[in-house]
Amino acid sequence: MSRGRGSSGRGGGGNRPVSSRPVGNRAAGSRAGGSSPTGSTPGGASKGARQVAVRVKTARKRTHSSTLWLQRQLNDPYVTEARRQGYRSRAAFKIIQLDEKFDFFRDAKRIVDLGAAPGGWSQVAADRVPGAKIVALDILPMDEISGVEVLLQDFLADEAPERLKAALGGPADLVLSDMAPPTTGHTKTDHLRIIAMCEMALHFAEEVLAPGGTFVCKVFQGGTEGELLNRMKHHFTSVKHAKPPASRADSAELYVVASGFRGAGPAPE
Ligand SMILES: C[S@@+](CC[C@H](N)C(=O)[O-])C[C@H]1O[C@@H](n2cnc3c(N)ncnc32)[C@H](O)[C@@H]1O
Repeated sequence: MSRGRGSSGRGGGGNRPVSSRPVGNRAAGSRAGGSSPTGSTPGGASKGARQVAVRVKTARKRTHSSTLWLQRQLNDPYVTEARRQGYRSRAAFKIIQLDEKFDFFRDAKRIVDLGAAPGGWSQVAADRVPGAKIVALDILPMDEISGVEVLLQDFLADEAPERLKAALGGPADLVLSDMAPPTTGHTKTDHLRIIAMCEMALHFAEEVLAPGGTFVCKVFQGGTEGELLNRMKHHFTSVKHAKPPASRADSAELYVVASGFRGAGPAPE
């Protein structure tokens, strides 16, 4: 890490329809203004009860693993539902479900979305808190979203924090990070890399969050440990891990939700 940053639902209705709000930020072809589908558990995906409906034939140029990936995509109810509701990614349902549990969008006036592309989380943020200042950052280009300022930027680069702060124009109420470094296939290495990324996102959150603010970050199974967890507990009144139903059961992905930021202060010993 080049920058050397540090050491380290609203209302709680679990199955509340999510698309009763305007869908102005969602793709054409979505059922804008249509009936309100349930976004939280389309097709009961979380229960793993759904049978594979579409089988993909192997093709000469396709590897076995990409055939399996394609088959999984075609049979994933969250993929179908994201397309139907006009979300750019199935990941949108993860943040919807986390918000249903932790209610962090309520009253958020400045929001940062790290690792935002293709934009599902930012779409949800823009829908949930219209008028909020939302700054999305990704190393990959992403299409514009109304009400969201998009920065094409490597978060690990030295200039990233200052660019984000300038775009925000004041302390943030919510810092989201769904950033994931490219996987190596080596579980331990991947775990360490994502924890390092979470550490940097946390350090940034400590710099920009207003007292009472919330930090949501992707980690891997095993959650945040040791120094990182201690640091979070020191700076936030509540630190919880959660795996939203939209997060694939066979994925080690997990989210940490740290709320009640105590305000910038010295790091723990
Ligand atoms: C799982 S995707 C995010 C999906 C997004 N939350 C959504 O709802 O559409 C992870 C993102 O992290 C981004 N990412 C990984 N490393 C990054 C870095 N160093 N700086 C900025 N973005 C990064 C990737 O480009 C990728 O778009």
